[in-house]
Amino acid sequence: MSKSRRSSWNAPAIAAQKRRASEDPDAASPLVMVTAYDAPGARMAHEAGVDLILVGDSLAMVVLGYDDTLQVTTADIAHHTGAVARGLKSSDSENRVPMVVADLPWMAYHTDPHEAVRNAADLIRAGAHSVKLEGGRKRLSMIEPILDAEIPVMGHLGLTPQSVHAMGGFKVQGKEHDAALELVADAKALAAAGCFAIVLEGVPDAVANMVTASVDVPTIGIGAGNGTDGQVLVYHDVLGIEDRITPKFVRRYADVKSASVEALSAFADDVRTRAFPDDSESYHLSSDAAETLGLYGGLGE
Ligand code: KIV
Repeated sequence: MSKSRRSSWNAPAIAAQKRRASEDPDAASPLVMVTAYDAPGARMAHEAGVDLILVGDSLAMVVLGYDDTLQVTTADIAHHTGAVARGLKSSDSENRVPMVVADLPWMAYHTDPHEAVRNAADLIRAGAHSVKLEGGRKRLSMIEPILDAEIPVMGHLGLTPQSVHAMGGFKVQGKEHDAALELVADAKALAAAGCFAIVLEGVPDAVANMVTASVDVPTIGIGAGNGTDGQVLVYHDVLGIEDRITPKFVRRYADVKSASVEALSAFADDVRTRAFPDDSESYHLSSDAAETLGLYGGLGE
C-alpha cells in the first residue's frame, strides 16, 4: 500500500471507539497508546500496531534526565513531535497510522488562553494531531479556546505529574469519597467541553471504572486498573530501557537496557583487543593505488 493511502487514526475515530465497543465488544478492542520521542521509536510503535503515540512530557524524565516533568518547554515537545511525525512518514508498516498526541507542558496553558492556543498550534505544526493537557474543570477556560481553534484535546486526570508539588509527590489520587466524586465531575466536564479522550493516571481501579462509566469518550488508563477503555505506558518502561524506577503499574515486556549494556560492553572489548574492525569491516585500496603510494603487500581489495 502506498504511504499516502494508509488509513490513519484521528480524534473522531478514537472517540467513536467507545460507542463501537459498547455496541459490539468484539468489534472494538481497548485502545493502545504508548509514548515515543523520536523517529525510530515512532516507526517501531507503528509497526507494533499501536493506535496512539503520545509525545509525553515524560520526555523530561526518561530522555532528558530530569527528576520531574516540569522542566520541558513547548519547544522541547515540538522538537520531539517533529521527529515522531517524520518517523511515521518514513515508516514502511501497512498498519493503520497511529494518531500523534503531544503534551502541552507545564506553564504552556496555565496563564493566558491566547498563549495556550499558540502553544497548541506550535505542536500541531510540528506534526501532532492533537494535544493533551492535565487538569479538570480548573482548566476549562484554556481547553475551550484550543478546541475553538479546531485542535482536538485529550484530557488527563488523577495523578497529574505537572502538579507534583501541589500533590506532595507522585501519589495515587481519588482514594477518598469526595476526591473520587471530584474526579467524576472533572471527567464529565472535560467530555462535555469536547475532549475526545481522557487519560486517567494513578487512581484506584474502582474509581477509574466509575469515571469510565460516567463519560461517553474513551478513558485511557495508566495505573488505573483494567476497566478503562484503553491503556498507555511509557516506551522506556515497556521496553525496560529505564530500570531504576519500577512503579507497580508497569509491566516490562523486554530488557532492552541489559541487552544494550551487553552489546556496548562487547563493542568496548572488541575495540580494546583490536578485534574490531576486521578486514571485512574495512575499506581497502586497489593494488594499483596502493602501489602508486608505495604501499606493497596485503593491501588488495
Ligand atoms: O508524559 C507522559 O508520558 C504521560 C503519560 C504517562 C500518560 O502523560
